[in-house]
Amino acid sequence: MSALSINDLRVELGKDASHRTEVVKGISLELVPGRIHGLAGESGSGKSMTALAVLGLLPAGGIVRGSITLGGETELVGLRPKAYRAIRGNRIAMVFQDPSASLHPQITVGAQIADGMRAHLRLSRAAARRRAAELLALVRVPDPDAALTKYPHQFSGGQRQRIAIAIALACDPDVLLADEPTTALDVTVQAGILHLLRDLAVERDLAILLVTHDLGVMSAVADDVSVMRHGRIVESGPRRRIFTDPQHPYTRELLAAMPDARESLVDAPPAAATDPEEPR
Ligand SMILES: Nc1ncnc2c1ncn2[C@@H]1O[C@H](COP(=O)(O)OP(=O)(O)O)[C@@H](O)[C@H]1O
Ligand SMILES: [Mg+2]
Repeated sequence: MSALSINDLRVELGKDASHRTEVVKGISLELVPGRIHGLAGESGSGKSMTALAVLGLLPAGGIVRGSITLGGETELVGLRPKAYRAIRGNRIAMVFQDPSASLHPQITVGAQIADGMRAHLRLSRAAARRRAAELLALVRVPDPDAALTKYPHQFSGGQRQRIAIAIALACDPDVLLADEPTTALDVTVQAGILHLLRDLAVERDLAILLVTHDLGVMSAVADDVSVMRHGRIVESGPRRRIFTDPQHPYTRELLAAMPDARESLVDAPPAAATDPEEPR
C-alpha cells in the first residue's frame, strides 16, 4: 500500500512567463507506511522543491504538474487552499533543517505542541496537554512534564529538533517530510535524530521522505533511496543495492565522494542513541 505516490511530478518556478524554469522534471516515487525513502542529491537538484510541492507550499508563481496522491485516493495537485490546509500538518507533516525557524521563541513548548492538535483534532486543553507530554516522551525529550512549560531557547539544537518532530507528529500524520533534518546539527547529535525517525517509521507505521544532500545520513536509516540530479531521479532502489551496486555514474560519484558510506552500510543493530547533549 502506498501512503504517498508521486507520478511524473514537474515543478516550474519563476515570477512571470518569460522567466520560468523547470526545477523538477518529471520525477516519480512512492512512500510506503513504515519505511523511510531517502531523497539524495547535491544542492540545487530540486529536493526541497519536491517536498514543498507535496505540501502545496511552493514559492509564489510556482506551478505543479503531474500527480501526487495521498493514501491512494486524494489527489493533491490542484487541491484548493482550504482543502490543503486541512491535510497539511494533519495527514502530512513536515520537519525542516532549522528547528528554531519552526518554533515560536515566546510560546512554551507545551502550548506549541497543543496548538496544532487543538486546531485539527478539537481536543480540550487538558487532553491536548496530556498528549503533548506523551509526544515529548515519544521523541525522547527528557522530563516531558517539565519540558512543556519551557521555551525553545532552553533546549539544545538536537532537543529543539526533537520538539519540532513532536509537533509534526501531534496529529498522527500518515506521511512525514523531513528536509535536511540533521544538517544544522552537530554530527554527534545527528545519529540520535536519525534513529528516532527510524523508530517512528516502524512503530507508528509512518511513511517518511528523508531529504538530504548527505548520503552518509541515508546510509544510516533509509530503506529506499532515490538519487536526484538537475531535477530528475537518476537512480532509485533499496538502499543496500544503491550503496553496494550503484548503476548510474552520478551515484558512483556521490558515493566516491564519501568513502565511509559503504562501510557504515553493514546492517549493524542500531547504535545506542549516544547523544552527549541529551542526558537521561
Ligand atoms: N524562489 C525560487 N525561484 C526560482 N528558482 C528557485 C527558487 N528557489 C529555488 N530555486 C531553484 O530551484 C532549484 C531547486 O532548488 P531546491 O529544490 O531548493 O534544491 P535542493 O533542495 O535539492 O538543494 C535550484 O536550481 C534553485 O536555484
Ligand atoms: Mg534543499
